Amino acid sequence: MGALVNVQGLTKRYTQNDVLAVDHVSFEVQEGEIFSLLGPNGAGKTTLISMLSGILTPTDGDATIGGYSIRREPLAAKRLIGVVPQEVALYPTLTARENLRFWGSMYGLRGRELRARVEEALELVGLRERANDRVERFSGGMKRRLNIAGGLLHRPRLLFLDEPTVGIDPQSRRRILDMVKEFNAQGMTILYTTHYMEEAEELSHRIAIMDHGHIIALGILEDLRRIVGELETVRMTFRETTDLAPLVANIEKEALARQVTTTDQQVVVLTPDAAALLPSLVTLVARHKATLLSLDIERPDLEAVFLHLTGRSLRD
Ligand SMILES: Nc1ncnc2c1ncn2[C@@H]1O[C@H](COP(=O)(O)OP(=O)(O)OP(=O)(O)O)[C@@H](O)[C@H]1O
Ligand SMILES: [Mg+2]
Repeated sequence: MGALVNVQGLTKRYTQNDVLAVDHVSFEVQEGEIFSLLGPNGAGKTTLISMLSGILTPTDGDATIGGYSIRREPLAAKRLIGVVPQEVALYPTLTARENLRFWGSMYGLRGRELRARVEEALELVGLRERANDRVERFSGGMKRRLNIAGGLLHRPRLLFLDEPTVGIDPQSRRRILDMVKEFNAQGMTILYTTHYMEEAEELSHRIAIMDHGHIIALGILEDLRRIVGELETVRMTFRETTDLAPLVANIEKEALARQVTTTDQQVVVLTPDAAALLPSLVTLVARHKATLLSLDIERPDLEAVFLHLTGRSLRD
């Protein structure tokens, strides 16, 4: 499977306030992938998505979607994309179904096909039962789900979700995250933006960390964690009767074990690469007939990566 999205030097300068919101950004999204843009407020996520979805004209650079240039073949590119905007775009006095019919007609759907797609989208986001209720009576989470349904009406190959879980309760968030995984399992490629590192960690095949209009890191979670270069912690807890001294002496001989500390029950090893050290640790534990009760690897998270790269926190 090749790249579905290919972004080359994409740039946006807002002329009104002379803000360089996206600064020569390049990356690819592979077909079948959940790709997250993780970044704090003002990083340029929405601006980037808006250019890719044809809402904003780039100042420089280009991108292709399914091989179609967003500059030269915008209509063909747009047909492949479903967009779920950050700001919920719904008419409060219309029902859920009426809102979707309106959206669908904007996509050029008509008649029987429009009706069928609206029912399908309502089903996908679990709002069939509430289809005849006016949106003004919906909870925040339900509005978000309906907003997502709007992006699904023309069965896009690629779905853009711009911070779809902001300001909603944990249950609705859970539901949306599961929905995104389900769409992806069905073959949809997802470009997801968030400033919640937990969401990026849970959902993504790959993550691009954005800040001040730049992608400052890109890769799978494991690669990003390695950027921190901080040591990982392996914490082993043993049955209290175990004599740990001979075991610890041997662990200390391992090149990857940078620092070993012990208490009555625990051995804590600092290492640059826990995964690589693990097999020798397990072998040593077995050789010393020590009774291991638990083993935990604590690793740097994306918050630590962002802090390391920018000196600032992801959170506001
Ligand atoms: N329509 C606009 N006109 C002028 N400047 C804008 C406009 N939209 C965004 N900006 C500026 O561009 C920069 C990037 O904003 P953008 O909305 O793309 O960030 P974001 O990553 O989506 O942030 P958030 O997480 O808050 O949604 C910010 O400095 C913002 O103030
Ligand atoms: Mg935004």
